[in-house]
Amino acid sequence: MANALDKAKSRFEGILKEQLDRIERMKSEEDWIDYRQVDTIAIGILGGDGIGPFITEHAAKVLEFLLEDELKSGRVAFHVIDGLTIENRAEKNQSVPDDVLEEIKTQHILLKGPTTTPRKGDPWPNIESCNVSLRRYLDLFANIRPVKVPKEGIDWVFFRENTEGAYVLGSSGINVTEDLAIDFTVTTSQGTDRIVRLAFDYAKKNGINRVTAVTKANVVKTTDGKFLSIAQQIASEYPDIEFDDWYIDIMTAKLVDKKRRTQFKVMILPNLYGDILTDEAAEFQGGVGTAGSANIGKRYAMFEAIHGSAPRMVDEGRAQYADPSSMIRAGAMLLRHIGAENRARRLEMALDICGSLERKISITGRSTGANGNEYVGYLMDTMKDGELENRWKSYQETT
Ligand code: IPM
Ligand code: MG
Repeated sequence: MANALDKAKSRFEGILKEQLDRIERMKSEEDWIDYRQVDTIAIGILGGDGIGPFITEHAAKVLEFLLEDELKSGRVAFHVIDGLTIENRAEKNQSVPDDVLEEIKTQHILLKGPTTTPRKGDPWPNIESCNVSLRRYLDLFANIRPVKVPKEGIDWVFFRENTEGAYVLGSSGINVTEDLAIDFTVTTSQGTDRIVRLAFDYAKKNGINRVTAVTKANVVKTTDGKFLSIAQQIASEYPDIEFDDWYIDIMTAKLVDKKRRTQFKVMILPNLYGDILTDEAAEFQGGVGTAGSANIGKRYAMFEAIHGSAPRMVDEGRAQYADPSSMIRAGAMLLRHIGAENRARRLEMALDICGSLERKISITGRSTGANGNEYVGYLMDTMKDGELENRWKSYQETT
């Protein structure tokens, strides 16, 4: 027993040291990258696995079309990066193999398809999720997830903390004895400060007058307590923005409450709650297949779907029917991130028309619906000059 305790203590000490080092790195963090100072914006395309390569290819095709001028002039360059497949990660026994990470780090921005997250009992080694690793390795601290259902008055943007909480040490728990398992959750002042400020700045810039923090600070007193009290402090620096806070349990209920949910606008949450609530939120919009996600850090940014790799669709031979909307929405966020605001907006309008307002063809995930290729064709046709504005206007008039 003494031996088990000593071992656990020394593991814990290692974890504490790592986190203290991380705090020092955050304190001396560089400023935000300014793409105006960069000659060529390098965009890495990572297909991932499962349905990932299918839907990523569609999104890349749409971006290629919209960034044609920049690709020609060399202002933007795409690089396909292989090696994030579960087979390769399993073979190297690394969540992101060293050589793949090295290649990734030569890019500014990533468009990344879903990747399989192993779990106990899988044929793969139980390695860390490569999403979680990449978010940590590239310090992509803000996971920004918009969800919009215009007909229902829903217009939410979630700011999920992406490098701390229960996630960052999710693969570092300790089996102290055969009977005792301990996991850890982490909140730092620096890590909370940067996500909360980003959310408030976003609200301010976009004329949004309400920010809501979601925690369980009444029970998880130390880490969630810290997150909430920092949010409260920062809120006082933004007197024009109304701030409130909710607990995660009642918040999941309130999202289903049609009268209350439209009041929420910008939400800030620790990692795990952000993971859960954004899947629920996406369901109102048409499911996780329709939601894109931006992982933003000061140096790197990664755009992806909010869902997983759906290996079952591949096993059943249905991968070509997977909905690429999530990845294409992530692509729209990528466009906005590099300053192509207009094109981002046009793409989002086309997605709204094709995916909800018009739905001339629809995706069902099976041969009963359109395949990804047909859907992208429909989307591209909708984006033609003149066409988009007319169709958009007609829907605004009828709804
Ligand atoms: C997400 C996903 C990931 C997460 C998985 C695939 C590890 O659910 O991006 O929300 O839990 O963060
Ligand atoms: Mg999730």
